[in-house]
Amino acid sequence: MTIQKHKKLNKGEVTHIERVANEMFLIKIKTAPDFSSKPGQFISILCDGHAMRRPFSIMNFEKGEISLLFKRKGDGTAFISALKVGDTVDFIGAMGNGFSLNNDRILLVGAGVGVAPVYYLKKYLKDGVRLIAGFQNSGEIPACLKNEIDFISTDDGSGEVQGKGSIVDYLEEQISRYQPDRICVCGPHIVLKLTSEIAKAHDIPCEVAMEKTMACSIGVCRGCVITLNKNGKLENASVCKDGPVFLGEEVVW
Ligand SMILES: Cc1cc2nc3c(=O)[nH]c(=O)nc-3n(C[C@H](O)[C@H](O)[C@H](O)COP(=O)(O)OP(=O)(O)OC[C@H]3O[C@@H](n4cnc5c(N)ncnc54)[C@H](O)[C@@H]3O)c2cc1C
Ligand code: FES
Repeated sequence: MTIQKHKKLNKGEVTHIERVANEMFLIKIKTAPDFSSKPGQFISILCDGHAMRRPFSIMNFEKGEISLLFKRKGDGTAFISALKVGDTVDFIGAMGNGFSLNNDRILLVGAGVGVAPVYYLKKYLKDGVRLIAGFQNSGEIPACLKNEIDFISTDDGSGEVQGKGSIVDYLEEQISRYQPDRICVCGPHIVLKLTSEIAKAHDIPCEVAMEKTMACSIGVCRGCVITLNKNGKLENASVCKDGPVFLGEEVVW
């Protein structure tokens, strides 16, 4: 199946774009009426002149508009950050599996732009969730989410935040205070790995939203494969098609 013919090929119109932290942007895209998504899924955007689409977690989907929170890094994200209201966005999605949606008490953990998909889960479930997040410094905290996060740490302690250091340093304390039935996390690889290990030590299931460099984003190229250990049996899984959300205890880190 080619990307051109993929059934989730979509077009949307930019309705809002703003810088919300140092190099971080919020973009809202009006979608076609039949678009639907759930927390943990992502869209992959065609960026002018680049064959490989860039994947971004959905931060919210409300009133027919997708919100994304993205960090400007290279050519692709520079292209998206320069889009204007009224411009057309060519994307595929919503892709991937997403988080479980049962009514557990959930501790949501975000690090950096990884806060986006766990924030979507908080908005979606409304009750029984606590969102904690870590950022490098106060300049990295997205203004649009500041008041939506229950506990924030910055690595250097800057800003009006509750903690100094990595958000992982506060996990034990948050687990004993909140007593979650489940933990969902998104952020850099090391944050996913450590959160998963701490959750396992407390016997709490942990869902991790993985990031892998993607080429096709639709499960064809096998460029985003990770290894899972399912009851002692090793198997490959594509982050784009089988994930990006996996059970932390099954990921071979
Ligand atoms: C499932 C998923 C969800 C993501 N959600 C977000 C999000 O919500 N917000 C956000 O800011 N970023 C997110 N990312 C990372 C984002 O896709 C990259 O930052 C972006 O592709 C960089 O593109 P670039 O052209 O600006 O940078 P470049 O570094 O120039 O990119 C070069 C190539 O590497 C790939 N690439 C680079 N970094 C990554 C990365 N971390 N993950 C995957 N591919 C990468 C690009 O797709 C491109 O093919 C997500 C990645 C994945 C896999
Ligand atoms: S990016 Fe091609 S299989 Fe996942």
